[in-house]
Amino acid sequence: MPKPPSSSGEQRPGGPSEGASEKLWGGRFSGATDPTVERFTASVHFDKALARYDLRLSTAHARMLRRQQLISPEDETSIVDGLAEIGQEIEAGTFPFDPALEDIHMNVEARLRERIGAVAGRLHTGRSRNDQVATDLLLFLREMSAAVERGIHELRGVLVERASEHIDTVLPGYTHLQRAQPVRLAHHWLAFVEMLGRDADRFRDQRDRIARSPLGSGALAGSTLGIDRDDTARALGFLGPSLNSMDAVASRDAALEFLASGAIAMVHLSRLAEELVLWSTAEFGFVELADAYSTGSSLMPQKKNPDVPELVRGKSGRVIGNLVALLTTLKGLPLTYNRDLQEDKEPVFDTAATLRDSLEVMAGAVATLHVHAARMAEAADDPLLLATDFAEVLVTEGVPFREAHEAVGKLVRHCVEKQVDLRTMTRTDLAAFHASFPADASELASLERALEQRSLVGGTARATVSEALEVARDDVGRSLAALDAEDSDAETRP
Ligand code: ARG
Repeated sequence: MPKPPSSSGEQRPGGPSEGASEKLWGGRFSGATDPTVERFTASVHFDKALARYDLRLSTAHARMLRRQQLISPEDETSIVDGLAEIGQEIEAGTFPFDPALEDIHMNVEARLRERIGAVAGRLHTGRSRNDQVATDLLLFLREMSAAVERGIHELRGVLVERASEHIDTVLPGYTHLQRAQPVRLAHHWLAFVEMLGRDADRFRDQRDRIARSPLGSGALAGSTLGIDRDDTARALGFLGPSLNSMDAVASRDAALEFLASGAIAMVHLSRLAEELVLWSTAEFGFVELADAYSTGSSLMPQKKNPDVPELVRGKSGRVIGNLVALLTTLKGLPLTYNRDLQEDKEPVFDTAATLRDSLEVMAGAVATLHVHAARMAEAADDPLLLATDFAEVLVTEGVPFREAHEAVGKLVRHCVEKQVDLRTMTRTDLAAFHASFPADASELASLERALEQRSLVGGTARATVSEALEVARDDVGRSLAALDAEDSDAETRP
């Protein structure tokens, strides 16, 4: 699986080329392009990330052209071989990218002409850059959504393993960031396993909708030439060709879906990240990040800072921004292709790179962090976390919940004001708050019971959490195996 282009941003082209490049659309023009315009419209400094997809597409297209007798077998061979050599140049980093040639598509075609001569001019038969770029982008999205899905399942796998070490580590669960009820650390981390599981599903589902190939839709209305759209669609791993040429060149909702799923996943990561930041404060002291996943302060020698989760939290901003940027570009855009659509790529590349990096560092941070189970236990050893259970005892005795809630509320206020430990109250003490308490507090509720009595589906009991862990572990294993199968399928494609 290829790495997405770096999220740090590629260098913009410094200026126009020496004017040596001949435009592939030059026929209609007598004057030269203004250098500022050349710089402004160029996209090759980022869309070169599509090179491998563009070459795959062109190879499939050339083969189809020969099958349809639109080019000769000799032309097919020189085009296909020329494209393969260009692929090697790009991989070796020796390809001479030229911003004056605008984008990756024209850079490849111009280079092909340099290598194989005028026959290169036959490659663009029956296609336009509009259907070409739409198809390249779908190929990129298909691979990248699988790569992101894999990264998510790998992080889930780490969370499951860490959770399995901490079935008996108890901490307070929080609502409003106030201690609420005791939970197992395994249960807490399995919550993220669930969230991330839905995130992964969104990326997987999206690939069902990347099913139809735009190639052959031409600029917007197809082609008069006898091209075979089924042939190229299948060769590129699509189910078949797209069904409306105008939709095919104008739509970018596959990119939007990727960005939206990415934004949701990143928001989930930011919540996990925030807990690592919070939990590693002196105030909480629940976890300590490994040295390999922390950084120091250049001024304060004592500092060990959680920069990794902080940056994951921070980078959620740009990933959300990428979604908003493309939504805004598309809003109100008339059919069909408009150059605005070139703005689709940088947000997609950035989200792909940011998300994959974030998933990887979060997996490392979680895998290596140290859990201070004793600090968690201390925080959970707060009798007030059992207040709900006292109310539910009364409910079991036939008291309406609201009445029970009120009585226990008063009981808690008494304990706080008089600094009494709720657990030490006798049945007689409790009777002052409600006549239906059936025994001493110590018999009615405890940390252990609070956890174990919640054996309902999705609850905190030991057996329930252990089972949830196994279900999650299976799910991660099955999902990763499915992705492996999908990858090897892709490799057997021509
Ligand atoms: N670089 C362009 C893009 O990314 C490719 C399509 C250009 N088409 C055109 N008619 N100018 O959208």
